[in-house]
Amino acid sequence: MRIYVTRRIPDAGLDLLRQSYPNFSMNPEDRVLTRAELLENVRGLDGLLSLLTDKLDGEAMDAAGPNLKVIANHAVGFDNVDLRAATARGILVTNTPGVLTDATADHAWALLFAVARRIPESENFLRAGKFTGWGPLMFLGGDITGRTLGIIGAGRIGHSVALKSKGFLMRVLYSDEVVNSTLESELDARKVSLDELLRESDFISVHVPLLPSTRHFINRDTLRLMKRTAYLINTSRGPVIDEGALAEALRDGVIAGAALDVFENEPAVHPELLKLSNVVLTPHTASATFDTRNKMATMAAANLIAALAGQRPPNLVNVEAWGKHRT
Ligand code: DGY
Repeated sequence: MRIYVTRRIPDAGLDLLRQSYPNFSMNPEDRVLTRAELLENVRGLDGLLSLLTDKLDGEAMDAAGPNLKVIANHAVGFDNVDLRAATARGILVTNTPGVLTDATADHAWALLFAVARRIPESENFLRAGKFTGWGPLMFLGGDITGRTLGIIGAGRIGHSVALKSKGFLMRVLYSDEVVNSTLESELDARKVSLDELLRESDFISVHVPLLPSTRHFINRDTLRLMKRTAYLINTSRGPVIDEGALAEALRDGVIAGAALDVFENEPAVHPELLKLSNVVLTPHTASATFDTRNKMATMAAANLIAALAGQRPPNLVNVEAWGKHRT
């Protein structure tokens, strides 16, 4: 079996992979492969352990050839993989759900606090030697306790973000296609329309997958529905927000602030965002804790091993490919 890992992942995953496939290959450099390198390195593979930064479309699958049986993505998100193309070719695609829920939700909270209480901005001020004494008007920010939290997408991660608001006695609104009865019973959370959520919330945390229907769903118009004192937090996927429109809204005081872990054209960040002090930016690190990344690596490796052993991988995404898959 020929197996390739597109970039070094934590040892926990590599060790597991090595037990079944001691001769697997891996990108020797700690960087994203270029397109040409990706197309070259997938050739003749049976199994590919990929990252969210690898674009795996029909062309890449065809470059791999007819033996490719599984793409084990080291991420819960899988918008980098063309599922339809994979299913059409009988290639199984897997992801790493669950293990990064809390880490990502914790990071959403870290961002929420950072932007509302202006932590990076005030720390930079202090480090620059500008702190000359306490001032009654210095770095005023937004209150958190008792305010309204709006969760867009109350799946695993949105649910976890909402539950963690308990300690801050927040009123919780959520928008989703389905009712989340746990949030309703535990937090008295209310399912509302997107418009109502945007109008009513003081903090809005986005947790939707990237789909044609969610691309730019936060745009000039939806931003204008938000309170001028509200904050927007995004740990899902960058393209769900129109970054140009967000930069404009932040600059013009349409909303109070934003905190982003994901970007429309990663790793690029909209240049106007970089100029603004009311936005906190982290480099797609919401799941970056030691334990979480070990679990993601182990899970991705286990999915790949199961698929190549002819078993249904535990975290199969394109379930419709099962039964029609390559063996
Ligand atoms: C994912 O897994 O999809 C996150 O974006 C990175 O951990």
